[in-house]
Amino acid sequence: MTVFRIQGGASLVGELEVPGSKNASLAILSAVLLGKGTTVLHNVPKVSDTLTKARLLTNFGAEVEWREGSLLVDATDIHPGEADEETVRAIRTSFYLLGPLLARNGHAELPAPGGCKIGARPVDFHLKGLALLGADVVLDGGVYKARTRGLRGAEIYLDFPSAGATQHLMATATLADGVTVIQNAAVEPEVTALAAFLNRMGARIEGAGTSTITITGVSSLDGCEFRVPSDRLQAGTYLAVAAITRGDITVRGILPDNQTALVNKLREAGARIDEGPDWIRVACDRRLKGIRVKTMPYPGFPTDMQQIMAAVLTLAEGTSVVEETIYESRIGHVAELNRMGARMRVEGRATIIEGVPSLSGATVEASDLRAGAALVLAGLAAEGTTFVKNVRYIDRGYENFEQTLTALGGHIERIEAGDTEEARQHPE
Ligand code: EPU
Repeated sequence: MTVFRIQGGASLVGELEVPGSKNASLAILSAVLLGKGTTVLHNVPKVSDTLTKARLLTNFGAEVEWREGSLLVDATDIHPGEADEETVRAIRTSFYLLGPLLARNGHAELPAPGGCKIGARPVDFHLKGLALLGADVVLDGGVYKARTRGLRGAEIYLDFPSAGATQHLMATATLADGVTVIQNAAVEPEVTALAAFLNRMGARIEGAGTSTITITGVSSLDGCEFRVPSDRLQAGTYLAVAAITRGDITVRGILPDNQTALVNKLREAGARIDEGPDWIRVACDRRLKGIRVKTMPYPGFPTDMQQIMAAVLTLAEGTSVVEETIYESRIGHVAELNRMGARMRVEGRATIIEGVPSLSGATVEASDLRAGAALVLAGLAAEGTTFVKNVRYIDRGYENFEQTLTALGGHIERIEAGDTEEARQHPE
């Protein structure tokens, strides 16, 4: 029962360092079960998804401890365990545990996964790949049951460069007998991060970051020490905050090469961008102009920034078209932004946005993580007070969101239900 109360109108100005990548951490927190030993992970963001995932590992015998900001996972003694269904359903990447558990134990069972509701999100590529690697997987009563008499290297072609399937199959193949080649692999930085982590554990992976990944199986992996790279999506969100509030924000400790699509689109819309080796600055002192945006697999424009970019464009001059090609229903932000005075309509996979000069505060509901972030951005830019409900979605992926925005000059407060009259009037 948590609500954000946002007093809009301030231009946000300042500098920040973003925390570690949620999505890289989540993939690593599946692969970690492959290593016999203790792994020390630095820079894992403390967001609800990583906390949930870390807790889930204990279902399978891993010992997990947060120590001075780092996460220690001892996966020496792993057993098939019994996964808590509610925990598994809370996050998508719980499913990526199936392959590592199978590689360690020869059999594994996991309830079907959940995650943000932004499309059907099937797991067919994962299942086809696991079958090619020698696993026998059946869905029985909502539970995936997997067995193998020994994983073996295989040639796997992905029908679409799925980040999750690439990560899951690449990790599983590290302990298969022989060589695995994944064709049409995802090239997302989170895939590269996972490969670096696995190689640190003793895996032999080549080509991560390209569309052909070759994995030569090894007989065992050890624990290791690894620093999770920074979160390009949290970074991108703060750059968008500068654009929507006509502010001036520098994000440090990032790889600008991972932000090319976003930076170019913000520049095209009229924002001023400066870049250094590990920082990007977005400054904006005028109204942006409408542009076209189309989401694509990396290095194309990220689907995770689509709703946030749409929020920015609600205030641009002229018409924008934002096309979502990755997920079929990542549009939970549209009706809510319209409550705030935006003029958006959905036509097939595209959202058409007629820019308005201002938004006005309203009570709105987050439907998923990035929709929630989009609403917060709109609230920061709107005239008056905005209440964003369902903050639990935003907590999945943004660490210290309101503290960071406050440090930049935003007026945003977390209200726990019961604390104030507003919270009672605007329950989740
Ligand atoms: N797909 C299939 N079959 C599969 C797997 C994927 O059809 O077996 C489809 C999906 O339905 C989707 C497309 O392929 O249409 C791409 O999905 P992908 O597997 O790449 O996505 P994911 O691994 O489930 C990760 C991120 C998402 C992010 C996408 C795309 C994590 C935990 N999640 O999901 O992040 O949107 O990649 O980059 O890494 C978020 O952070 O808000 C988030 C949803």
